[in-house]
Amino acid sequence: MKILIIGASGMIGRILLPELQKKHEIITAGRNSGDIRVDISSFASIENLFKEVKELDAVVCVAGTTFSGPIQNVTNEHLISGIQNKVLGQTGLVIVGQHYLNDGGSFTLTPGKMGELPAPQNTVKALANGAINSFVTAAAMDLERGIRINAVSPGLVSIIPPQDVLNAYFHSIEGTASGEIIKLGY
Ligand SMILES: NC(=O)c1ccc[n+]([C@@H]2O[C@H](COP(=O)([O-])OP(=O)(O)OC[C@H]3O[C@@H](n4cnc5c(N)ncnc54)[C@H](OP(=O)(O)O)[C@@H]3O)[C@@H](O)[C@H]2O)c1
Repeated sequence: MKILIIGASGMIGRILLPELQKKHEIITAGRNSGDIRVDISSFASIENLFKEVKELDAVVCVAGTTFSGPIQNVTNEHLISGIQNKVLGQTGLVIVGQHYLNDGGSFTLTPGKMGELPAPQNTVKALANGAINSFVTAAAMDLERGIRINAVSPGLVSIIPPQDVLNAYFHSIEGTASGEIIKLGY
């Protein structure tokens, strides 16, 4: 398969990249890293990305930052930045990418445990992750040409066995599931 990974230089990306590279053709993208430059907080940048990479079978997003801290410290900028970077970033890849993906292709987004099981001081993360979960469930019903979509929703990745992280992404990329929120480390 030809797979685009956005955020391959990050913590999760560094787990995925070497294993996916063993079996698939991988193209990586990030703001300052990877084969191609993209800033997923910009819809125009996402559009340029898909004009550049063609014939993709899978898109995996392991990028998108949000503020962590007590609700008393949350600002409008934190809300906007979390929504722009993570929610609009990850979902924008689907909104644009659906028109470019090969038949039977897949999207794998990465929200996180805070969307379903929030811990204190994570309101913005909970907001962003919950929005992505809802989007994935709904988008799976609408995507055409056999295109699938799933969310991998990890807890703290540093304390999850790397093989579990890999299995979750492989389940989405290489399996047949669609509309699943794949939970790990809960
Ligand atoms: N790590 C965890 O424990 C954990 C748990 C649950 C959920 N998650 C979620 O999983 C995703 C990845 O987490 P991570 O810990 O691997 O992140 P990370 O270590 O901070 O790495 C983020 C990666 O994404 C790229 N990136 C960041 N913002 C971008 C943007 N606007 N456009 C394009 N690329 C961008 C970065 O590369 P450049 O700097 O080159 O852009 C980097 O490769 C995040 O959405 C995070 O919230 C992480």
